[in-house]
Amino acid sequence: MKVAIASDHGGIRIRQEIKQLMEEMGIEYIDLGCACEGSVDYPDYALPVAEKVASGEVDRGILICGTGIGMSIAANKVKGVRCALVHDVYSARLTREHNDSNVLAMGERVIGPGLAREIAKVWLTTEFEGGRHANRINKIHQYEQN
Ligand code: RB5
Repeated sequence: MKVAIASDHGGIRIRQEIKQLMEEMGIEYIDLGCACEGSVDYPDYALPVAEKVASGEVDRGILICGTGIGMSIAANKVKGVRCALVHDVYSARLTREHNDSNVLAMGERVIGPGLAREIAKVWLTTEFEGGRHANRINKIHQYEQN
């Protein structure tokens, strides 16, 4: 699995934590910033990650900002992206099993690095269940084609 990760200035600490986690897990990743000397705009980071997921250049994306909300709104504008804003481990598992989410968004002003690490670990290792859930994903896919 290959992952693209990015944050704005509000998510640098958790981005570092998740990069360390992926290194421990042996997961290949590309870091798309931010370098973040000062304040930056989250769409400039969410959209490149989402486009890499949509094109198949990477398998998954992880985005962190202050709340995770801006990143998730922007990422979900890209066709083929199913970005889940997650702040608990239960949702991390279910959004993989049921929604086949391919981008994870988290907010560093909402949760700490320890919980973010647990969420990312579960999200990265949980498989999509398919079946009835695949029918639902297909309906979203069909809508995107129109
Ligand atoms: C930046 O101040 C903040 O708005 C951003 O990190 C994020 O929370 C947006 O949704």
